[in-house]
Amino acid sequence: MNRRFEPSGPLRGTYVPPADKSVSHRAAILGAVGEEPVRVRNYLDAEDTRSTLAAIQQLGVLVEHRRDEIVIRGAGARAAGIPDGPIDVGNAGTLMRLLPGWLAGQGSGSWTFDGDASIRRRPVDRIAEPLRLMGASIDARDGRFPPFTVHAGQLHGIDYALPVASAQVKSCVLIAGVLAPERTTVVEPAPSRDHTERMLVRGGMSVERDGLRIVVRCHDQPEITDVAVPGDPSSAAFLIAAAVLVRGSELVVDGVGVNWTRTGFLRIVDRMGGVVVGPLEPPGAPLTGDEPVAELDVRHGSLVGTTVEAAEVPLAIDELPLVALLGCFAEGETVVRGAEELRVKESDRIATVVDGLRGLGGDIEATDDGFVVRGTGGLRGGTLEAHGDHRLAMLGAVAGLASREGVEVIGMEAAAVSYPGFEADLAAVTRRG
Ligand code: S3P
Repeated sequence: MNRRFEPSGPLRGTYVPPADKSVSHRAAILGAVGEEPVRVRNYLDAEDTRSTLAAIQQLGVLVEHRRDEIVIRGAGARAAGIPDGPIDVGNAGTLMRLLPGWLAGQGSGSWTFDGDASIRRRPVDRIAEPLRLMGASIDARDGRFPPFTVHAGQLHGIDYALPVASAQVKSCVLIAGVLAPERTTVVEPAPSRDHTERMLVRGGMSVERDGLRIVVRCHDQPEITDVAVPGDPSSAAFLIAAAVLVRGSELVVDGVGVNWTRTGFLRIVDRMGGVVVGPLEPPGAPLTGDEPVAELDVRHGSLVGTTVEAAEVPLAIDELPLVALLGCFAEGETVVRGAEELRVKESDRIATVVDGLRGLGGDIEATDDGFVVRGTGGLRGGTLEAHGDHRLAMLGAVAGLASREGVEVIGMEAAAVSYPGFEADLAAVTRRG
């Protein structure tokens, strides 16, 4: 499906972003691990999070859809069912990396995972290694890729230093850690999103954080009982970027999650001269079971280039394509370093972002671990291929609104992976009154 996005007038009005994908995945997976019913309000209705509901149902979990919430009736920590066929994760990397953490601790049994063409290029050795150290095993294609099979074992706690700053791998180890009798420690190279830690605390688990070290102790099982999913800052980032780029914009973003580990992009935008005003969570807030939510005022600003270093990358990982786009409009150079993880996202996002923005007139170069953009004050426009990557499709749309000649996005349907209402939301705030 191809879609054209013409240069737009200012973005105006109040916008409520869709529910958070990361928090929705975790509510479903940790809900599956418990036994008490879990009411989830504002569960994301998108392809990725539907894959998660289907996966837990294959394991014997009941999911009830009510008018404004879903209710998950979990199987219990050590009672995951064995499905007839493989678990299909679709396009969802988070599902593929988190669910094995639970299944690995079942004592016995095997579960095979597969997904779409993009998921088959995404590595799982990063979860296979810690799960093996804990006493389970994973057989993967070429030792690294889906399809793969998780063989459960009797887990024991480990001290594990993550080789990559990945919230998905951290979460997998923490969930497995709940099922091991000893304590499990994970040390991150840099802070990454902490929704799993918060939800485990919400479920009554003992989770402690000391700097980059997180310790989880064995417990019966998490019983979360109720979760309200905040608006997704990574989805909101597309409309925030559009409002920052299009002169005269004044957008109110309501109900968006402002967990400090997710607002790196807003800090980068602020450094570049975009205007985002609102009560963001400060760093170092104590670890509780809550996800802070806020209302933000976003306005156009004249942008200057910035440098994003490795430590900041996990806090803005999914928004880095938008940093490249903003860089095209900024004065001077915008550099992103230490972001080689982008190469193993839904597409190789260093290659697809650089090719995509170059095709629209951007002056951008790939490096091994990021990119360098020389701002030229704007973008001409043209055609951008989404490569089946939801964030690329939405990047192309925002580029179109801010460009001189408009952008045709090839493969716009990919947006439905995280944000089925994207085009409608964009139309609502760009409609000239
Ligand atoms: C996610 C973590 C990030 C992010 C992904 C969602 C999560 O991946 O890119 O979209 O929900 O934990 P990594 O942890 O692999 O960096």
